[in-house]
Amino acid sequence: MTPELRHMLRDDDLNHEEQKQVLELGMKFRQDRFYRQPFAGPQAVAVLFDKPSTRTRSSFSIGVAELGGYPLVIDKSGSQLGRGEPVGDTTEVLTRMAYGLVWRTFGQDRVEEMAAHATCPVVNALTDDFHPCQILADFLTIAQFRGGVDALKGKTIAYVGDAANNMSNSYLLGGAVAGMHVRVAGPQGYLPRPDIVADAERIAKENGGSILVTTDPKEAVKDADCVFTDTWVSMGEEAEYAIRSKPFWNYQVNDALMALAKPDALFQHCLPAYRGKEVTASVIDGPQSVVWDEAENRLHAQKALLTWLVGKQRGDESLLA
Ligand code: CP
Ligand code: NVA
Repeated sequence: MTPELRHMLRDDDLNHEEQKQVLELGMKFRQDRFYRQPFAGPQAVAVLFDKPSTRTRSSFSIGVAELGGYPLVIDKSGSQLGRGEPVGDTTEVLTRMAYGLVWRTFGQDRVEEMAAHATCPVVNALTDDFHPCQILADFLTIAQFRGGVDALKGKTIAYVGDAANNMSNSYLLGGAVAGMHVRVAGPQGYLPRPDIVADAERIAKENGGSILVTTDPKEAVKDADCVFTDTWVSMGEEAEYAIRSKPFWNYQVNDALMALAKPDALFQHCLPAYRGKEVTASVIDGPQSVVWDEAENRLHAQKALLTWLVGKQRGDESLLA
């Protein structure tokens, strides 16, 4: 196997077979937390945050440690990057010391610039545009509850709410890669960018899936296998809180909306959640909700992703399965 430096910057950085490989590996880590230890040494993986985090911070920190590595967590407030050091300069330094770079930041261009300078894998831990690690965890959760990774292809997933945000974009691309029927619903003005929809449509077609973008939440949720939502005010949009409190009320995931999905449909939310806003307590704390498994699956999915990426980089086939 030829060594190949790969990054995970957006969901379509993995093709259908590769996404399946990572998710299968995630299922193995679900069974055995210490299934592989590619960073034994310990080798360091730098995990950088320009935005707050609970799940991403804990799952990457604990995950890298369980992979035998040392998680070097760097916050914006304590880094020169946060004071304006160029992304390229920071990356040139870190990539000489660390064996993986994980970054939560604002613009997608920033993780792309990091990848351009890195000699080790770069993972997007959320940008304004995409949250690909979350999608791997969410799909692992469907696999967990619906009979394995092979069950993903052909499933119908519905995301309702701010359809212009990172989660919506990532469901579009990640679901298309998985060969799912992806439906996203949001109000006018909060729909996904045409270039992302076009990419998702092309990829969905290749994998036997489909894409529907609509302003009608009922059309999106009808007979869906899984319903997702997310906050109406993403990190960095706090100044828009008042404006954003109005357009989304018809998109709240409540019992009436969930009743339109399949009777055994799963409910997922990447968290943090705002009960009484994008989701009612009756849904997120109800019997169809699998949000705690979903959060746990961040750990397993990201360990699988890091193992797969370093397996590719080292040309070590044994790390891919
Ligand atoms: N879902 C998610 O990424 O959570 P955090 O913001 O807590 O990391
Ligand atoms: N859309 C949310 C996701 C949080 C995990 C945000 O970007 O804040």
